Amino acid sequence: EKGNFEHYMLKEIFEQPKTILDCMRGRLLAEEGKVRLGGLREYIDQLCNAKRIIIIACGTSLNAGMVARYLFQEICRIPVEVEFASEFRYGSPVIRDGDVVVAISQSGETADTLVAIEKAKEMGAIILGICNVVGSSIPRASHAGVYTHAGAEIGVASTKAFTAQLTVLYLIALQVAKEKGTLDNEKYRSLLNELDQIPSKVQTILDNSYLTQSLASLYLDATSMIYLGRGYNFPIALEGALKIKEISYIHAEGYPAAEMKHGPIALIDEEMPVLFIAPKDHTYEKVVSNIQEVKARKGKVIAIVTEGDVVIKSLADHVFEIPETDEILTPLLTVIPLQLFAYYTGVLRGCNVDQPRNLAKSVTVE
Ligand code: M6R
Repeated sequence: EKGNFEHYMLKEIFEQPKTILDCMRGRLLAEEGKVRLGGLREYIDQLCNAKRIIIIACGTSLNAGMVARYLFQEICRIPVEVEFASEFRYGSPVIRDGDVVVAISQSGETADTLVAIEKAKEMGAIILGICNVVGSSIPRASHAGVYTHAGAEIGVASTKAFTAQLTVLYLIALQVAKEKGTLDNEKYRSLLNELDQIPSKVQTILDNSYLTQSLASLYLDATSMIYLGRGYNFPIALEGALKIKEISYIHAEGYPAAEMKHGPIALIDEEMPVLFIAPKDHTYEKVVSNIQEVKARKGKVIAIVTEGDVVIKSLADHVFEIPETDEILTPLLTVIPLQLFAYYTGVLRGCNVDQPRNLAKSVTVE
């Protein structure tokens, strides 16, 4: 039921403080300094000893996997490869001893992902599934896994399932980092506490959703947009661009911010909105120069920044502030205004946001 919301998508965006909390319930024990994921119990050793993690997924779930690459590499020191599920099977995959495959899927029914799992299994890999729909095909095809517990997602554009996937990935990485000893204890404890506070910070962003609505009204006639971010927020640039394409039918591309100067910069003129995901993190200064490059070419800059930011505020045409958190966790916050922006843009353009043309909730053909 949509309740008081006009669309399922908006309802699902607004559910996120609760769905993230549901996903962490009983698993994140911040006070005790513990993470407990029942679904992984029998495979946690294999995961800790993994020589490599291969993540396979499609669409939004793939973008969650790309955040996980930075995460597992940084805090667990495990090399990670992220593959389009559809390219895995037919790309002569190499599976070695010590490889763990992590498949991510909201529906648990995506054919491209299922086929990739079958191939990896045949080749001897251990498969861990991160899925939302309980009892669906992917969890059944996996050796073990973790459910995201986001509840039914009806809107075709994935929103709350994405933040729940990220939450599960953070929990897994924290548990592995703790067991492997790859994260110092103080940092580990502080990440647990920060993660615990994410739901209320997401709520703060939602309380300001009217700001994304007025932004959407300024740019609804754009024919194209560029989304840029670095590090943990490069995959969020991809996710923001995917959302706006699906929901408003505006062409958009996501890039690592630094990659812009290797080609896409040629597209920039006064008509081109460029969305920067630029929270305060270790790439901040570099992102500031990327923003200057866009302004020098008269592009319109919209930036997602950490509250209290002054430098980007003075450069950008518009900023949307998010509460401060550890840079590792910023994707859980930065994606929210992008979901809202896509939603309001779609609505203002008269699009069917819950059922965009040509799309289905789960794609069961290869
Ligand atoms: O159910 P899955 O997570 O496996 O679905 C994967 C993609 O089809 C899905 O994320 C798609 O890209 C969404 N429409 C994104 O909003």
